[in-house]
Amino acid sequence: MGKTIILGAGGRLGAALARVWAATGEGIRGLDRGAFPLDDPAKVEQALLREDFDVLVNCAALTQVDYCESHQEEAFRVNAEAPGKIAEVCSRKGARCIHVGTDYVFDGLADRPYSEEDEATPVSVYGASKLAGDHAVLAAGQEHWVVRVSWVFGPDRPSFVDQILARALKEDRVDAVADKWATPTYTLDAAALLRPFLRGISGGGILHLSNAGACTWQEYGQWALDVAAEAGLPLRAKTVGALAMADLKAFVAKRPPYTVMDTTKLARIGGVPPRPWREAVREYIRSQIEAGVFSA
Ligand SMILES: NC(=O)c1ccc[n+]([C@@H]2O[C@H](COP(=O)([O-])OP(=O)(O)OC[C@H]3O[C@@H](n4cnc5c(N)ncnc54)[C@H](OP(=O)(O)O)[C@@H]3O)[C@@H](O)[C@H]2O)c1
Repeated sequence: MGKTIILGAGGRLGAALARVWAATGEGIRGLDRGAFPLDDPAKVEQALLREDFDVLVNCAALTQVDYCESHQEEAFRVNAEAPGKIAEVCSRKGARCIHVGTDYVFDGLADRPYSEEDEATPVSVYGASKLAGDHAVLAAGQEHWVVRVSWVFGPDRPSFVDQILARALKEDRVDAVADKWATPTYTLDAAALLRPFLRGISGGGILHLSNAGACTWQEYGQWALDVAAEAGLPLRAKTVGALAMADLKAFVAKRPPYTVMDTTKLARIGGVPPRPWREAVREYIRSQIEAGVFSA
């Protein structure tokens, strides 16, 4: 059996991948930030050379977009330099590196979903640092994958969908941005969609992975409220009002307005198309309600 290491195993995506794959018999070693810090790329190299694995999945990253804007050096160290070192060590060990990337590498000015071949021109330090990481990983080996995801949600760490439900339980009025489009990515679906790429599928490159379809934050939030109300959650707010991105004065970094990704390649190579985002969000909210996570 192969041995898979997951970096960032304390995060939203990494924790889900580690749990789901371990349950299906994969040999998993999940390393969180404490066990495997990425702050010093030289130390990353030494630490990784001591590990025994044939696949490494890197979910660790400095993900706070606004923090990155004012911490450029740290962002590039963690999101670009460290992944480059990791991928180089993987190549030296004959292992595959699967590095998780982001839709924020795009400027968001397209009028159709972005394919893997589309040029990436980031508008933020976070996006630029992640793009530099993509390039470094791909340059280190032809069997490495850069898997770009968007609007990640799941049970291991709260995200937009959890926040809007928590607010709708307490407040009479909730709003969300109505002029920014992307596609939610359910971590449990990502685990299933990504599994064939661990071993077996030869080659490498960029892969776009999300659920299917597209929405604004307002539509995403409205669907979350609809599903929660249908499941009996006593919401105070039933509709999500519209905000413009320009109204969000707390945003420091510029955000790309449209980052829907084309997942045709994922379905073609992996063999399974992602399901629509509404189905995934409904399943997630129902399971969280059943688990007693949301209460009035
Ligand atoms: N969340 C999204 O909507 C989204 C969208 C597009 C792409 N992505 C990408 O998806 C991947 C996974 O993101 P996520 O949603 O799971 O985010 P997350 O919950 O923030 O997970 C990232 C993990 O990286 C760890 N980390 C941060 N700095 C580190 C460092 N210097 N050394 C070692 N570990 C460090 C974090 O540890 P601490 O929590 O202890 O700081 C956290 O466990 C990332 O590559 C991200 O860029 C996410």
